[in-house]
Amino acid sequence: MTTARRAACVIGWPVEHSRSPLIHNYWLKRYGIEGEYRREAVRQEDFAAFVAALAARGYVGANVTVPHKEAAVALSEPDERARAVGAVNTLWLEDGVLHSTNTDVEGFLDNLDASAPHWDRDAAKALIIGAGGASRAVIYGLLTRGVERVVVANRTASRAEALPASFGKRVQVADWARLEAELADAALLVNTTTLGMHGQPALALDLARLGGHAIVADIVYVPVVTPLLAAARARGLATADGLGMLLHQAVRGFALWFGKTPEVTAELRALVEADLDGRK
Ligand code: ATR
Repeated sequence: MTTARRAACVIGWPVEHSRSPLIHNYWLKRYGIEGEYRREAVRQEDFAAFVAALAARGYVGANVTVPHKEAAVALSEPDERARAVGAVNTLWLEDGVLHSTNTDVEGFLDNLDASAPHWDRDAAKALIIGAGGASRAVIYGLLTRGVERVVVANRTASRAEALPASFGKRVQVADWARLEAELADAALLVNTTTLGMHGQPALALDLARLGGHAIVADIVYVPVVTPLLAAARARGLATADGLGMLLHQAVRGFALWFGKTPEVTAELRALVEADLDGRK
């Protein structure tokens, strides 16, 4: 262990909205680690140069957010999951090599494990709404955990139709218009779109056909209880929220940069929730 003050950052454009500084600086304080986590507002055209100079800028690693997640793959040594997802959200330097991964995968899974233990006991079919980067991280994660069939519906059909080629035949495409019919045998429903986010339309979906043991997850975290999650809870279903995913995806970056695996606690959740409430 070095005693030097370590620093990491989140790189994005815009980056003001990122809650990562709040999370990582909370953990630094909580564990008494000499370190710092900053925001770095970097334009698309400056991203490659910024990443190339990461060590020179005094950073041991970084989070990567919009719009750089895809570009970061080619600028680093991605692990298998980052390659499969096609997007990177975590960078770290090791022996002068810039490595990368996508911790949205375990962020989603770890939160699901924490929110709905044994969700994967009988997970024959998961229904995923959306086909963007977040959807790819969720699909990859579900396949690694043995879900037999991952059915994806997206407003723009062509994006969903490209997914089986990346992830194989266990991933299937459903018509956007048939979403409600697809609910009947789904063990897990996941919204990976921006629908339901503050300022966006709600996801118009009647959950009546979902079975009583189905679990509903949302990656949206502003608001924490999206209309979709509220509807699921009203039906007595188990839910996993986007805030939990956000907190869990931060764990590995912190461990890689600062050498301590941090805990996702109720106190941290309350801190971030209060910040979200104050800023929306
Ligand atoms: P991310 O990388 O965060 O997943 P993205 O790649 O922009 O972001 O994907 C956003 C997802 O939300 C897509 O599935 C998008 O659907 P399209 O592919 O049809 O654009 C979905 N989405 C966003 N706004 C939507 C809306 N109003 N109705 C339906 N889907 C929407």
